[in-house]
Amino acid sequence: MVLYICEEDLIKFAKNQFHMSETAELKLGKSIYHLPILKGTENEKAIDIEKLREQTGFITLDSGFKNTGATKSAITFLDGEKGILKYRGYPIEQLADQSTFLEVAYLLIYGNLPTKAQIDEFHHQISRHTLVHEDMKKFFDGFPSKSHPMGQLSSLVCSLSSFYPESLNPHQTPEELDLTIIKLLGKMATIVSWIYKKSLGHPVIYPQNKYDYVTNFLYMTFGQRTEEVHIDPVLVSAMNKLLILHADHEQNCSTSTVRIVGSSDCNLYASISAGISALWGPLHGGANQSVIEMLEKIRNDGGDVDKWVLKAKDKNDPFRLMGFGHRVYKNFDPRAKIIKKACDDILSKLGIKDPVLEIAKKLEEVALSDAYFIEKKLYPNVDFYSGIIYRALGFPTEMFTVLFALGRLPGWIAQWKEMREQEEPIGRPRQIYIGENTRDYIPMHKR
Ligand code: CMC
Repeated sequence: MVLYICEEDLIKFAKNQFHMSETAELKLGKSIYHLPILKGTENEKAIDIEKLREQTGFITLDSGFKNTGATKSAITFLDGEKGILKYRGYPIEQLADQSTFLEVAYLLIYGNLPTKAQIDEFHHQISRHTLVHEDMKKFFDGFPSKSHPMGQLSSLVCSLSSFYPESLNPHQTPEELDLTIIKLLGKMATIVSWIYKKSLGHPVIYPQNKYDYVTNFLYMTFGQRTEEVHIDPVLVSAMNKLLILHADHEQNCSTSTVRIVGSSDCNLYASISAGISALWGPLHGGANQSVIEMLEKIRNDGGDVDKWVLKAKDKNDPFRLMGFGHRVYKNFDPRAKIIKKACDDILSKLGIKDPVLEIAKKLEEVALSDAYFIEKKLYPNVDFYSGIIYRALGFPTEMFTVLFALGRLPGWIAQWKEMREQEEPIGRPRQIYIGENTRDYIPMHKR
């Protein structure tokens, strides 16, 4: 196994970017404390509170981590106000337009764009690990036919740790860890396509290593055992773009989950499985499924978009416009911009007219000119149009979040690896206790 590049230099580079000369002053009663200020390479600023409790007895409270930096990372930069997203310094627009998913995976995990020899070797290694153990098929037989693909994916990825127990060692050498990573990248595409095949009750298709990563995935998903399959290059290009756009998004809910689970020295497969579970929720990756369900509901209800916008604004109505709003993007989501255009291109190339696309566009138009959405800075996010493309490619709605997970995999791996290489401590937030004070136990017969 080849170790592609050592990340030490990147980490050293990132560490050198901090300017620690300034401090912030905190006044608590009569005491003044000086807290170090950190600056990132893009000039983002943070107050370092690591020693705050030790020095003052206070903790900070930040429900939902709305303003808490959990790590220093050299992988992805995003500026929510300006709508900027970059992987390892490369703008998402350039990567989505010119790169492939495998190249982006390499970039995220190893820090630099690969040379031709490096990407060939990377692909060669992954191709040698696309088969999943035949015993894993027994799990598929055990899942009820209606079980959600995300539940299956999370279980199957976690179960890889039982097939590859060497991954349990938290002190794997870089070469051993590379093999664990390669196995996961190779097997994930096979697992995802098999989940789809099983949902149809169809026989699974084994990988063909003559194909590139994305073509192989589409071949296993849409191929038949009996005939030679032609995978439409339009599909391959669309799939590459979607996977690239989802490949990383710094410290979001699922990525933070992966890092925090991994911080207990838990193995890569189980950590990623936890990330898959976090992604499943409709406020996070599960929104792509919810968007299409919502658009269909609006269509079946007669297509009155204004009525649903009113519902979304009503505080007493739990309905939210799915695919709208984002914790960090407050101007526009650069991924949504690319996806909206891709959606038009792909549907026209495939000659598909999808009535929900018309509803989506109308909804976007109405919402974007509405004071509620403007004031709250709610814009369409990555999930708003992605489902329409997945549908056009032939995927059923329940598979959408699984495709998000396939795309996010290299990002999760890169973040998990960085967390290990930076030797981050176990993740363990504090709390403000608001429960009862000490009470004496009362035996049952006296209550
Ligand atoms: N429809 C209607 N109102 C909304 C929406 C929405 N989609 N999103 C937020 N708001 C309102 C919310 O009610 C709140 O109003 P108020 O200040 O009066 O209480 C305000 O906007 C701020 O919302 P928040 O929930 O406090 O913001 P957050 O940063 O905690 O949540 C979010 C972000 C993405 C969870 C939220 O916008 C949402 O639920 N969106 C719909 C689900 C969705 O599309 N999720 C996918 C996110 S992108 C994919 C990914 O990376 O996960």
